[in-house]
Amino acid sequence: MSFSELVGQTFDHLTPLLLDLVDSQYLNVGYWDKNQMSFVQAQQRLVDLFGRFSKLKKGVEVIDVGFGTGEQDLYFVDHFHCKRILGINPSKFQVEMALKKIRNKKKYTSVIEFQQGDAIDLADRPTKSCNRILALECDHLFEDKNKFFRGAYRILRPKGYLCLASAIPNRNNIYNENIVAEIQREISGESEWKDIDLSKLQEKMTLTLEKQKNSKNLNIQYNQTLDLLQKNGFLIEESKDISTQVLGFFPKIKQRTSLLIKEPFLDHTQNEILLSLLASWLILHYTIKNKLVGFFLIRAKKL
Ligand SMILES: C[S@@+](CC[C@H](N)C(=O)[O-])C[C@H]1O[C@@H](n2cnc3c(N)ncnc32)[C@H](O)[C@@H]1O
Repeated sequence: MSFSELVGQTFDHLTPLLLDLVDSQYLNVGYWDKNQMSFVQAQQRLVDLFGRFSKLKKGVEVIDVGFGTGEQDLYFVDHFHCKRILGINPSKFQVEMALKKIRNKKKYTSVIEFQQGDAIDLADRPTKSCNRILALECDHLFEDKNKFFRGAYRILRPKGYLCLASAIPNRNNIYNENIVAEIQREISGESEWKDIDLSKLQEKMTLTLEKQKNSKNLNIQYNQTLDLLQKNGFLIEESKDISTQVLGFFPKIKQRTSLLIKEPFLDHTQNEILLSLLASWLILHYTIKNKLVGFFLIRAKKL
């Protein structure tokens, strides 16, 4: 089984629980720039911001990799009037969910196509066939970022854009054991955690960190990402650090997780998954808060 098939299968299993947690159809971290925002409001704001940042407009032909449940593409049709959107995603479950949303709705079926596939195989598609490639919070999951950039360059038309919204390390070797100890110390006094098995959570964090430490992709730093884009022929037109505005996701996730973890219908496996998710979000939150990782919007232009 290929790397992306494995990731796709993981999302097949995770998606129902993830949607339950965020109580929306989007799977992004959200853009939290106002008080009292709900998950769906913050997530829609990020989709909208990313759409504007990517200069989506009437007539534009888009390839959207890692589209989640497809909700963002409905938004792009409704609000930016794109001419064509091809969504690519390795999760069969998510592709089916997205297809269900557009079935019998001509407004969407005449524009959107959802396919199961891997973003790093873009080079197999017709060259110069689109003018936007979007990757909203997903390229950290790809096996080979360089191959993704290379393929994207090939199939974009001249003056087209590759647009990323991604969490990227600001420096090297950030994933070390100290992080787990720090997080444990931070959360030990907080009452919201009383229903959560903290030693199990610690195990999950250690496991997650180990995986992150050994992942080639997750250790490509911000400057290296820009270099990689440039080496593949792109001009960096704009890059925006929105780390502060994504941090709001965690208090909400914490609230929802501590509610959900008490639900009697959760079986052992779901409980384990929930703890693993919580562990990776804790690490993401900690690393962004301490500026080890940044959350960036990057627009790269094919000349
Ligand atoms: C964190 S979710 C974000 C989903 C969506 N962009 C959103 O913001 O709601 C990551 C997405 O990336 C997709 N993904 C993972 N690996 C991929 C790959 N190799 N090619 C395309 N999509 C991929 C997952 O299936 C999932 O839909």
